[in-house]
Amino acid sequence: MAFPFQIKSLSDYQQAYKHSVESPEKFWAGIAAHFKWKKKWDKTLEWNFDQPDVKWFVNGKLNITENCLDRHLRMSCDQPAIIWEPNDPEEHHRVLTYNELFFKVNQFANVLKNNGVKKGDRVCIYMGMVPELPVAMLACARVGAIHSVIFGGFSAQSIADRLFDAQAEFIITCDGAYRGAKDIPLKNTIDDALVGCRFVKRVIVLTRTHTPVSMIKGRDVWWEDEIKKVETQGNPPYAAEEMDAEDPLFILYTSGSTGKPKGVVHSSAGYMVYSTYTFVNVFQYEPGDVHFCTADIGWVTGHTYIVYSILCAGGTSLMFEGVPTWPDAGRFWDIVEKHKVNILYTAPTAIRSLMAYGTSPIVGKDLSSLKVLGTVGEPINEEAWRWYHEHIGKGNCPIVDTWWQTETGATMISNMAGVTPAKAGYATLPLPGIQPVLVDEKGVEIEGNDVSGNLCIRFPWPSIIRTTYGDHERCKLNYFTTYPGYYFTGDGCYRDENGFYRITGRVDDVLNVSGHRIGTAEVENAINMHTGVLESAVVGFPHDLKGQGIYAFVILEKMHENQDQTRLDLLQTVTRIIGPIARPDKVQFVTGLPKTRSGKIMRRILRKIAEGDLSNLGDISTLLEPMVVEDIKNGKV
Ligand code: WT7
Repeated sequence: MAFPFQIKSLSDYQQAYKHSVESPEKFWAGIAAHFKWKKKWDKTLEWNFDQPDVKWFVNGKLNITENCLDRHLRMSCDQPAIIWEPNDPEEHHRVLTYNELFFKVNQFANVLKNNGVKKGDRVCIYMGMVPELPVAMLACARVGAIHSVIFGGFSAQSIADRLFDAQAEFIITCDGAYRGAKDIPLKNTIDDALVGCRFVKRVIVLTRTHTPVSMIKGRDVWWEDEIKKVETQGNPPYAAEEMDAEDPLFILYTSGSTGKPKGVVHSSAGYMVYSTYTFVNVFQYEPGDVHFCTADIGWVTGHTYIVYSILCAGGTSLMFEGVPTWPDAGRFWDIVEKHKVNILYTAPTAIRSLMAYGTSPIVGKDLSSLKVLGTVGEPINEEAWRWYHEHIGKGNCPIVDTWWQTETGATMISNMAGVTPAKAGYATLPLPGIQPVLVDEKGVEIEGNDVSGNLCIRFPWPSIIRTTYGDHERCKLNYFTTYPGYYFTGDGCYRDENGFYRITGRVDDVLNVSGHRIGTAEVENAINMHTGVLESAVVGFPHDLKGQGIYAFVILEKMHENQDQTRLDLLQTVTRIIGPIARPDKVQFVTGLPKTRSGKIMRRILRKIAEGDLSNLGDISTLLEPMVVEDIKNGKV
């Protein structure tokens, strides 16, 4: 069975796009009709971007898990929903059919109920890449609880901040996680996060690594014990909670230009409809295809393209616990061969790091099952694109370059595999329903082709961010006030002579390090917490593997005391406060920072220095102390 809304040709695309712009409500109502609703919506869309207030499928009732699971049971109960490949190739892989996944989700939904989780409660999930992670997410969705998955690389402090912000009373975690040669002690990190935190009522702990953990009486319970209780209750099915179309499905924290990560809130129905639509069209998924998205479920890519959209489409999702380079740099290719992967979706960073090993890890690996390749998370450089195309796709697989963000829920600008044209380094054309606009600094729309500007979106799409949890004003300020009337993406963009879009990178103070989003202000806050630090400024610089690296300029109280040790201590502080992903690659101790007379740090100058572009710093005459620039240049690391 093909999907009723799958676009099959360029002219199909052009027609769908035109329809989606001319009558968006009709267009999306037509797509939404293919989903399972408990009650049909009254009105397709209500919106204004000033508040902002966006509602899709008003008064519609549904439960996304009935779309992910129940409705596939008759047709495809023995079809694999999730294929899980463990970290260690010696360990057996696991397959969960739709039937089995349905059973496990119901079982765990009962566990949640037994532990007091109710509709609307926030549940924090901090687990490794094991099949129980999607089970936990879907079980939350089934009972109507709002999950907030936190990536395993975040520190206890980051978890505590997020728990507090979301007022999450429940946590689901693992004793530990395997990633490459490392065991990561997840439960211990949770315990550190919970020191002094009184509102968390229950921590459910899955056994994975058998790392010793402390289990606090009355608060901590084992996943396995709780499952046994449900078994003795006779494993009753869990009637999926009736959710309003606009009820939040999940919160996912992401970095912005301020020091504090914000909880991006996605709705139940709009997210479901739009993400599934993009999955089927961008990847040109065919029933039975094995889709391997290499992202971690801790990021939005994993939420959307490992879990929700693909299960809604009745597809087979391959999830991998480990890392691309362990036990060797052939791990991905072994997985492709072993599970006959048809679609491979990964990040330019991963491609660049594998490229560095040359082609020998690919030799002798059968990659002939591959039909479609995808990239996400950062601009892809031409060299990596060519390598991916030639050595992995053997010249036969279209590459989709999917541009989107945590806030957009799913892909916004991308070619559709084999259906619309590809161009290396370009996300190419907007998907149906998406109206990109380039604006200048003043917010004036830049029309025509062969132009650059800041990327905005003119009209709501179903999976647009609804709010930032607990602080709607922040959502408005961040996305809807810079250019009134538009959603502002924070990205710079070029539109070529054919109208193809190329994302050129962030224009705000957000870095993209190995496809992970990190706010410079967040890193500065962490550095400034270190004893002896007076002030700091963090900027990005081009990094061969990571795309962007983190460069920190730091002023110490006592400049010349044991700088090497201080540098290491500083890195340790950043690891403690945010997590290892935010560790600066370079730390330069400076005596002053370039500031305007009003005290604002001139980041432009620091960026140039970090990039190594020392000769062309632009006008520095407006600086309070122009001399400081010479000192910084001389001390560049
Ligand atoms: C930022 C969003 C999209 C899910 C993973 C990252 C950058 C994303 C592309 C692409 C160039 C891209 C943008 C965007 N980005 N995809 N195909 N080409 N840049 O989600 O953490 O919310 O980051 O990633 O700068 O704003 P995220």
